[in-house]
Amino acid sequence: MALHTPPKGWQEEGLPPEERVWLVLATLFAIVFLSAFMGLWHLTGRQTTHGEAYQVDPAAFRQEVMAFAERYRVGELHGVPVVAPPPGDVYLMAQAFSWYPVLKLKKGETYRLRVASVDYPHGFSLYPHEWSLQLYPGYEWVYPFTPTRAGEYALICNDYCGLGHHAMVGRILVEE
Ligand code: CUA
Repeated sequence: MALHTPPKGWQEEGLPPEERVWLVLATLFAIVFLSAFMGLWHLTGRQTTHGEAYQVDPAAFRQEVMAFAERYRVGELHGVPVVAPPPGDVYLMAQAFSWYPVLKLKKGETYRLRVASVDYPHGFSLYPHEWSLQLYPGYEWVYPFTPTRAGEYALICNDYCGLGHHAMVGRILVEE
């Protein structure tokens, strides 16, 4: 039972004019903020990714990554190959619970990062930059980028993927 019983027939009275005005205003606001600002931000916001996504077969992608790592391997870091490829396509594979391989890149060179998960959804997050991509098995991101600062970057999984999620940390090394 309601605390205050509304008067009979209140549903049929319809909205008072001022309520209609607010309803129209709120709808216009929603349209403006959602479409106009999201569109504008997509074009002008610095955080927007301009990569492309393609369907890939996870097994085939894994093979490509393995061949790539074998070809340009220069060392090892915590059991993961360190790979120093020339400018062009560079691969990064996400799997429970690691990133493969460790990329060693040169500042100022332009690469095409091809990153994909081969098992579960993972989150690609590069620190200290706020570069974040969601990885779904079966799709690869192809992302052109040019490192502008030398240093060691941490690659973190920011999408919960299982018991080892917290340990899913990788590295990208950028040298002068
Ligand atoms: Cu991979 Cu969380």
